[in-house]
Amino acid sequence: MGATIKTADEIEKMRLAGRLAAEVLEMIEPHIQAGVTTMELDRICHDHIMNVQKAIPAPLNYRGFPKSICTSVNQVVCHGIPGEKRLKKGDIVNIDITVIKDGFHGDTSKMFAVGQPSVLASRLMKVTREALWIGIGKVKPGTRLGDIGHAIQTFVESHHYSVVREYCGHGIGREFHEDPQILHYGTPGTGLVLQPGMCFTIEPMVNAGKQQVKLKPDGWTVVTKDRSLSAQYEHTLLVTEDAYEVLTLRHEETDPTR
Ligand code: MF3
Ligand code: CO
Ligand code: CO
Repeated sequence: MGATIKTADEIEKMRLAGRLAAEVLEMIEPHIQAGVTTMELDRICHDHIMNVQKAIPAPLNYRGFPKSICTSVNQVVCHGIPGEKRLKKGDIVNIDITVIKDGFHGDTSKMFAVGQPSVLASRLMKVTREALWIGIGKVKPGTRLGDIGHAIQTFVESHHYSVVREYCGHGIGREFHEDPQILHYGTPGTGLVLQPGMCFTIEPMVNAGKQQVKLKPDGWTVVTKDRSLSAQYEHTLLVTEDAYEVLTLRHEETDPTR
């Protein structure tokens, strides 16, 4: 249940890894077009991470995962494996990027729409993005993990969507997935107390229908049981003396007109 407290030197390395992961999401955006395959997106990200960033795509061979990024389309909740399927107008896709630079991990994901999304899809993405930021807004020394989970769950359920329970955020650093687990539901006033120097992700998965999920026979792809749409956003965070720092912040997120 522990969480490591990062040193000043380790925090600098986490900042760099986080910035690189965010940059991959910015780089890939113009490539997300009707007709592209998720395998082509994987290749572009892989080459950028290896050759431009001189970093390592953490998913590749992680517990046997075969590709360098995760691409989760429509009813896929998470861990979609890039393949030969072409994106089409109206699809929504989560791209999840984790890079290792100088021994430290940065992990972030966002949703993209291919062409004009349906009203439901665009509402689902907006609520999920806001749910992440409501969770982030709770991060400061003294907050307990249950406070974060409860805030996310309450917000999502107020919009009549559901929070996936089987997958969660995580501590992050030299390891991809460290303690503690960051649940996106919970009870206020319970769980680990945050301290400066902790690093973890928040990455709510939100379903338009029921919360239940199932694993595909490939052993990775997680889909909604009722085939409803699912969305996810993820950031890597540092707990600071007074609140938080988003280590994977993108330029679009500092623009108040977004
Ligand atoms: N990036 C995912 C996360 O946010 C984990 C992907 S594991 C993989 O924790 F093996 F599927 F890449
Ligand atoms: Co993660
Ligand atoms: Co991730």
